[in-house]
Amino acid sequence: MASEDNILQTNALAVREYIHSQPQDALLNNPWAVYQALDLYSRTARLMNFKQAKLNIAQDALTTMETAPKVILEFGTYIGCSAIAWAAILRDLHGPFAEGLHVYTFEVSETVAEVARDLIRVAGVEDIVHVIVGPASESLKQLVEEGKVKVKGVDMAFFDHWEKFYLSDLQLCEDLGLFHEGSRVIADNTDIPGAPDYLEYLRAGGRGGEGSVRYETESFQSEPVSERRKPNMVEVSTVVAAP
Ligand SMILES: C[S@@+](CC[C@H](N)C(=O)[O-])C[C@H]1O[C@@H](n2cnc3c(N)ncnc32)[C@H](O)[C@@H]1O
Repeated sequence: MASEDNILQTNALAVREYIHSQPQDALLNNPWAVYQALDLYSRTARLMNFKQAKLNIAQDALTTMETAPKVILEFGTYIGCSAIAWAAILRDLHGPFAEGLHVYTFEVSETVAEVARDLIRVAGVEDIVHVIVGPASESLKQLVEEGKVKVKGVDMAFFDHWEKFYLSDLQLCEDLGLFHEGSRVIADNTDIPGAPDYLEYLRAGGRGGEGSVRYETESFQSEPVSERRKPNMVEVSTVVAAP
C-alpha cells in the first residue's frame, strides 16, 4: 500500500503536470493566477496547500501591518502554493520593481521542493522565493550564519510544516533574535492535527521573564465548522515586544 508520503509526492508531481497542461499565457509571470489554479485543482485532489479562505486571513494580517512586510520565513513549502501567494502579496504591497523582498521557504523533501521551484518559475517570482531543502531548523540557522536573514529582519514567519515542530521552531526564531516589534507569526492547522503546546505558549504571551519576546494572539476560523472535521483554524500572532 502506498505510504502517506508517497501519495503526497505523487499528487505534487501530478499538480505540476496539470499546471503545465494549462494555457501558459494566463499563468506565466502571474503569481495570483498560479495560486488560483493550484487552489482550484486542490478542490478535487488531495493537496495540503494553504487554501483561499485561510490565505484571506493571512493576507489581511500582512496588509494591515504598520510597516509593509518585506521578509517572510515559511516553514513547509510543499508545492510552493503559499510561497507564491506571499510573493504576490509582497509585490502588491511594494510594486513590481521593489528590492529586498524575500520569502525563504523550507522543505525537507527534495522531490516536492523541485515541484515548488518549477511552479515558482512559472509564476515568475523566483527572484523573491528561495526554496531551501533540509530540516527547517538547520536551514534557518545556516541562513542566519550566512547573513541572508538578519537580526530583527523577519517581518512574518509562517508555520505550516509538522505541528510538533511549531513551538521549537518559533523559539529558534526568538533565540536567533529574528523578530521585531510588529512582526507577525501565522500558523496553519492549529486545531487539526493541532499544536496545543504552541497555542498555549502564545496565549500566555510567550516565554515570560525579562527580555523575552512577547505576543498577542488571535485564533481565526477559516470556514463555518462542518460535520466533517477538517483543519479550519489559523493562528495570527503579533510580536508586541522584542527586546
Ligand atoms: C502542509 S505542507 C506545506 C504546504 C505549503 N505551505 C502550501 O501551502 O503549499 C507541509 C510540508 O512541510 C514539510 N516538512 C515537514 N517537516 C519539515 C521540517 N522539519 N523541515 C522542513 N520541511 C518540513 C513536508 O515535507 C511538507 O511538504
